[in-house]
Amino acid sequence: MANYDVIIIGAGPGGYVCAIRCAQLGLKTAVVEGRDTLGGTCLNVGCIPSKALLHASHQLHEAEHNFAKMGLKGKSPSVDWKQMLAYKDEVIDGNTKGIEFLFKKNKIDWLKGWGSIPEAGKVKVSDEVYEAKNIIIASGSEPSSLPGVEIDEKVVVTSTGALALGKIPKKMVVIGAGVIGLELGSVYARLGADVTVVEFLDAVTPGMDAEVQKTFQRILKKQGLTFVMGAAVQKTEATKTKAKVHYKLRRDDSEHVLDADVVLVATGRKPFVDGLGLDALGVEMTDRGQIRTGKDWQTNVKGIYAIGDAIEGPMLAHKAEDEGMAAAEQVAGKHGHVNYGVIPGVIYTWPEVANVGETEATLKESGRAYKVGKFMFMGNGRAKANFAADGFVKILADKGTDRILGAHIIGPAAGDLIHEVCVAMEFGASAEDLAMTCHAHPTYSEAVREAALACGDGPIHS
Ligand code: FAD
Ligand code: NAI
Repeated sequence: MANYDVIIIGAGPGGYVCAIRCAQLGLKTAVVEGRDTLGGTCLNVGCIPSKALLHASHQLHEAEHNFAKMGLKGKSPSVDWKQMLAYKDEVIDGNTKGIEFLFKKNKIDWLKGWGSIPEAGKVKVSDEVYEAKNIIIASGSEPSSLPGVEIDEKVVVTSTGALALGKIPKKMVVIGAGVIGLELGSVYARLGADVTVVEFLDAVTPGMDAEVQKTFQRILKKQGLTFVMGAAVQKTEATKTKAKVHYKLRRDDSEHVLDADVVLVATGRKPFVDGLGLDALGVEMTDRGQIRTGKDWQTNVKGIYAIGDAIEGPMLAHKAEDEGMAAAEQVAGKHGHVNYGVIPGVIYTWPEVANVGETEATLKESGRAYKVGKFMFMGNGRAKANFAADGFVKILADKGTDRILGAHIIGPAAGDLIHEVCVAMEFGASAEDLAMTCHAHPTYSEAVREAALACGDGPIHS
């Protein structure tokens, strides 16, 4: 029986990052992964393939809508869907093989197969039992569906099926205007599908800044997506090639039906803990089926830790990675730390949407006095030159101390711009600190500085 200091179950961004940090800290480390490739949901059927399709379809959009304006004339490219999928698969392959290389480099053993925990200190993979001083569960999440909606991954699909459709649908219905629904809905709308998004609530992307929500929905509508808001999906009916989506409008209970070639069900994800044997071990769970952990990511069973999508908090790859590093440090006797107040969220549509920290709603709820500094990309020269002037940067700062409490960006490269605010927040910076920092011209980042200036004496270009 092989012995390890740490065995990690799951090789997603939580598990593989944790393993590399454990190995760097001198711990003998193995990772159990049941998929044929490393990288988890994120690299195989999540972040990476969706961003590849977003990138490719955005290039098409630019060619169709903006090239001629810049004097780039000629026939627009046509879509070779098989080749686009092959490009996406190549991107996945390069990334998953990269993790395999990092495992070898760091002398991490990959125990291939599905793992379970027969007792604390032991991990079973197929018929082999391995001993581990510490076990870290990083088993991730899976799509959660709705009652009355049967997934076949061909006509009624989750994100996994939507990343590998046989052809571009003529009509697509997306259930859920959250992150997956809007990213993948955008992809297919750009590729020519007629996309209708059916959302239970009255605003897209729940929990986000209300002004961003409105602007985002308006921009997506302009791009051709249709929205049915305040609608509860009742059921889907599917044949081998078509589906019907039945929904009820919440405002008057009226019943409606939409026809589709493909239905994307994007109504959230739930922790994946099947087969681990957690019940028998007595591992405490939350009411939402997540593994409950303490501040050190340890469960109520000594020596068993959990991180990533399987525990509480936002289901994001970088949150899982940060917990992976922090849990590794805890196991190695150091002091791992994650600042849950500064975890950015990004939606990779065009324009991108990014946020960090408090929203106006959460600040009002907690009764904290705040000020708002807002700057429209319309006043940013670079954004105007690049046909990317729709959107804004909004910074929220404490009314008395000027300390930055949150930021909300919709606009070009929002997912990159947000990080200067994250760093500022980690250093406890004031809006004035950002405003006094020289920003290169012409960059999109100048819009962040202008929003910080707007928290004080005012921006220059508006
Ligand atoms: P996972 O990545 O889910 O990995 C868990 C791994 O554990 C899996 O490979 C699974 O096979 C394995 N496993 C589970 N149980 C066992 C077992 N018993 N034995 C062996 N192996 C096991 N997040 C972002 O931050 N940015 C994005 O752009 C983004 N885009 C996304 C797009 C889509 C379409 C989806 C679905 C998700 C996206 N996410 C994104 C979310 C992100 O993928 C997850 O938050 C992240 O993958 C969670 O990492 P994890 O390590 O906790 O789990
Ligand atoms: P989500 O939680 O973002 O959105 C689900 C949406 O479905 C919500 O707007 C909800 O109101 C709606 N909904 C629920 N029931 C419904 C019903 N019966 N009828 C109509 N609408 C209904 O979940 P999503 O988009 O599935 O994403 C899952 C997770 O994956 C998210 O937590 C997200 O963090 C992660 N992810 C992150 C990405 C990123 O960081 N860019 C990209 C894709 C996924």
